[in-house]
Amino acid sequence: MRNGTGAIVVMATLKGGSGKSTAAACLAAHCQLGGLRTAVIDADPQASLLHWQSLGEPPIDLPIIGDTSEAVASRARALAHEIELVIIDTAGFRNRTMIEALSVADLAVIPIKASPLDISAAIETVRLIEEVNATEERRSRPMAYRLLLTQVTVGSAVARHVRNELAQSGYALFDAELANRVVYAEASIAGRMPIHLDAGSAAARDGEAFAREVRRALGW
Ligand SMILES: Nc1ncnc2c1ncn2[C@@H]1O[C@H](COP(=O)(O)OP(=O)(O)OP(=O)(O)O)[C@@H](O)[C@H]1O
Ligand SMILES: [Mg+2]
Repeated sequence: MRNGTGAIVVMATLKGGSGKSTAAACLAAHCQLGGLRTAVIDADPQASLLHWQSLGEPPIDLPIIGDTSEAVASRARALAHEIELVIIDTAGFRNRTMIEALSVADLAVIPIKASPLDISAAIETVRLIEEVNATEERRSRPMAYRLLLTQVTVGSAVARHVRNELAQSGYALFDAELANRVVYAEASIAGRMPIHLDAGSAAARDGEAFAREVRRALGW
């Protein structure tokens, strides 16, 4: 908690299908099970996370609020007065709602598929974050960001290559990666995340490492 206020983490990329919603649900599940009071704002018109929650029988006990409007920033701020972690999932393209969400973010997580083709989209997203941080409102309190490699093929050198290229260019990455695992799809159709199915699984360990680094990036 920062001055009695919770943290706001925004999932942002300028590319669809990079793994934002999966990373958002994964982070929410791990942090909630880890004892943090957590809520999610689904700011994507596709409403992927609301849909994911609706598939659960019973639906997972996690507050997920749909808000694709420009009021997402004030809603997130209000929520952060009551709870410890607010996670905002955004659409995979630049729109006003995403900029508003970033304007109140403490940390932006940029999921990037471990493919060289995704590098330019990630770099563009970092530039957008730098633009937000350069505004008068944020200059004295810039948000941090981290790139998160997702859908990584275990045992392939591609992720290492992408990681090295980005790190050498000075971009900040999480050490944690979300490997490409079929259990995400299996868990999703049950409105769950891998940790709910098997807390000792490899996917759950990935999620735990990711959540731990998010907490560290927030100074917790
Ligand atoms: N680590 C992973 N392993 C396997 N499949 C994954 C993983 N992460 C995401 N996926 C799958 O990839 C697809 C896209 O993921 P997701 O919906 O999280 O991306 P997104 O960035 O939110 O997409 P959009 O831009 O459409 O909102 C989904 O079918 C999801 O189940
Ligand atoms: Mg999504």
